[in-house]
Amino acid sequence: MTGPLASALTQRSVLICVGSGGVGKTTVAASLALRGAALGRRSIVCTVDPAKRLANSLGLEELGNAETRIDDARLAAAGLGPRSPMFAMMLDMKRTWDELISKLAPKEKQERILSNRFYQSLSSALAGSQEYIAMEKLWQLHARSDYQLVVLDTPPTAHALDFLDAPNRLLDFLDNEAARWLLTPALAAGKLGLKLFNLGGSYVARQISKFTGVETLQQLADFMLAVSGMNEDFRERARQTRDLLASGSTAFVLVTGPTVERLDEAVHFHTLLRQNEMAVAAVVVNRVHEPVPDLWWREAAKLSPPLRGKVEKTLEELDVLASQDAIGLAKLAEACRPTALVLVPRFPLDVHDLPALWRTGGYLVGDAQLPAASS
Ligand SMILES: Nc1ncnc2c1ncn2[C@@H]1O[C@H](COP(=O)(O)OP(=O)(O)O)[C@@H](O)[C@H]1O
Ligand SMILES: [Mg+2]
Repeated sequence: MTGPLASALTQRSVLICVGSGGVGKTTVAASLALRGAALGRRSIVCTVDPAKRLANSLGLEELGNAETRIDDARLAAAGLGPRSPMFAMMLDMKRTWDELISKLAPKEKQERILSNRFYQSLSSALAGSQEYIAMEKLWQLHARSDYQLVVLDTPPTAHALDFLDAPNRLLDFLDNEAARWLLTPALAAGKLGLKLFNLGGSYVARQISKFTGVETLQQLADFMLAVSGMNEDFRERARQTRDLLASGSTAFVLVTGPTVERLDEAVHFHTLLRQNEMAVAAVVVNRVHEPVPDLWWREAAKLSPPLRGKVEKTLEELDVLASQDAIGLAKLAEACRPTALVLVPRFPLDVHDLPALWRTGGYLVGDAQLPAASS
């Protein structure tokens, strides 16, 4: 076992899988935690949005976010026996926000905040709050120190970097820009024709209430009042999260696909991570097309026409995809130097059970390699 992710699994205590939606972040995160456990580290994967079958094979109930130990019998049935236990959990945003409020807010204010309408939309829907709360959960899991390895899957955001920004956003929010932040989605949607506003200003208050109603405005004001005393705690929390991200215990795993659009995104994101001085353990390129093995050509040659022609045409197409991927990969490797690329093939089936996670993990830690990786 060699390679950048094998060392990250033994040397880091926090791995954060980032990348745009659908590239395989959840798959990679779960595979890494499983391999971490196999290496003797008590591991947890905090997943976001796992496919139902994957959640089932991790032993997760459909909706709970409890930390769940993967059953030994389940592992044994998959032919696996990690040296340390592996845990899995699903990130429940709303609950994590509520826990945070319960921890940080003074008792007498908690109920007022929890039942506030603005708080409720903040904690379940607004831009940036998902990222922030994933960071918060990460911090909690890390601080608990009974896990030696925490692998964080991240929400499917359009802008993967919202992540790094999340603690900053929270700080902005506390710097009295809360109203603007809260209402940004509404502003963007053109529901509020205001560029800038100051909650205290009566003109602004009149404008907002014109669109949202006096009651909503009161809710917002009430929310601001309730959280106002908590600024320093939030600020400290955001600082700690940011420090954890930048610390030597944390590394990012950038997940991407081999197609052209994905590659540009990956390069962009990699650059941003490096600019922010974040450690990038590796760029995982998932669903890479493998070159067609010679054996397949030989087998195809044994077929009789017209089947032979059809099969050979398919093999040619696969070879074209593989060589397109190889060109893209070479560019990506160049652009992300010195960060290493780790390639995972496109499997014929989804990665939804423990054996498939294990197999994926084999490519991640360098036990298995695509032919393209050695060229
Ligand atoms: N290398 C692969 N080969 C085949 N299917 C894959 C591969 N990686 C991921 N998948 C499947 O693709 C889907 C999306 O993967 P997922 O990890 O949920 O992506 P993300 O978390 O980035 O949205 C899942 O059904 C998963 O099982
Ligand atoms: Mg996912």
